[in-house]
Amino acid sequence: MVLGFRQLQASRSNALRRVTNSGPGRCHHHTRPNFAGGLQSEYVLNSGDKIPSVALGVWKAKPGEVGQAVKTALGAGYKHIDGAWIYRNEAEVGQALKESGVRRGDIWLTSKLWNSFHAPEDVEVTLDDSLKKLGTDYLDLYLIHWPLALKKDGKPYDKVLTDYPYPTWQKLEEMVQKGKVRNIGVSNFNIRKIQNLTANPLKIQPAVNQVEINYFFPQPELVKWSKKSGILLEAYSPLGSDGRVSDSLNVPVVKEIATETGMTPAQVIISWHVQRGTIVLPKSVTPSRIAENIHLSKLPDAAFNKLEKAATSHPPQRGLNPSKGWGLDFDVFE
Ligand SMILES: NC(=O)c1ccc[n+]([C@@H]2O[C@H](COP(=O)([O-])OP(=O)(O)OC[C@H]3O[C@@H](n4cnc5c(N)ncnc54)[C@H](OP(=O)(O)O)[C@@H]3O)[C@@H](O)[C@H]2O)c1
Repeated sequence: MVLGFRQLQASRSNALRRVTNSGPGRCHHHTRPNFAGGLQSEYVLNSGDKIPSVALGVWKAKPGEVGQAVKTALGAGYKHIDGAWIYRNEAEVGQALKESGVRRGDIWLTSKLWNSFHAPEDVEVTLDDSLKKLGTDYLDLYLIHWPLALKKDGKPYDKVLTDYPYPTWQKLEEMVQKGKVRNIGVSNFNIRKIQNLTANPLKIQPAVNQVEINYFFPQPELVKWSKKSGILLEAYSPLGSDGRVSDSLNVPVVKEIATETGMTPAQVIISWHVQRGTIVLPKSVTPSRIAENIHLSKLPDAAFNKLEKAATSHPPQRGLNPSKGWGLDFDVFE
């Protein structure tokens, strides 16, 4: 069911609310994974939609692997797939969704607007391409992938649209109005860039900001600010991404908590993310890990505090920064 635009606007004026597993409310999605100890299995966005707190991430999930990973995930209880146009695997994800027979209303689909398509006239065309590939007529969430508008004429980037993304946002608002997208948000935005956007007369506030968050780069200030501002954070590279996953799983505090709770190190970390109030997007194409990553449990307070303290006590180390690779003359995170 797609809400009318007025209803959406009215419900968006509510601040971000959080619910627990047992919380009442309109149910957009049905059977959900049951996390132990009262860990939240979903959050309520400013639109009123409930977003499952754990997603399967599909970046770098290769052709021939990603479809099987999606099917395994659906079987293991995942209700949320985090994808993007640029991952170039949306058609295989869509095919897997079709073959699995999952009802559209029972799954949360996120995609992202790639940097080359920020010009208002390009937004709907690329969104339609994602919709077609995914085999659906709406997305639950559509994000501006990066605060960077790339140009198509050989120049590295469009400075005006990069510094002032409101025209892109207005087009996303129009996509909500048209029913092609239910919620809109941003990714890789810092506080200044969010404020730069929200200083405009937005019809729809950003529902989420998807950023790197993991043991090595825990972003406590952003977590705090986002809660206060009613913007839900989504933690990408939650296990440290390919390069640091084994470092994450071998952090002494993580291993200690794993022994103490009977959870695996990956489960400790993924549960910690949800307990911090963020959505978490672990990627795996390995069936046993896909199942492992959704069997979560609230950490005892002392264990949670110990891990939070350890994560926030060392100098922050960002894992992903493509600025140089893209040939930019500035840091995309500044
Ligand atoms: N918005 C953005 O700009 C952005 C950027 C980066 C990522 N993301 C999103 O975030 C998702 C996750 O990020 P990510 O892929 O960078 O990092 P990640 O989820 O932290 O790490 C993925 C790596 O961890 C391994 N792994 C997963 N579960 C494991 C387990 N239980 N035990 C041991 N190893 C495990 C995976 O291996 P196998 O797959 O081989 O099992 C893979 O090598 C992406 O897929 C994407 O959806 C978004």
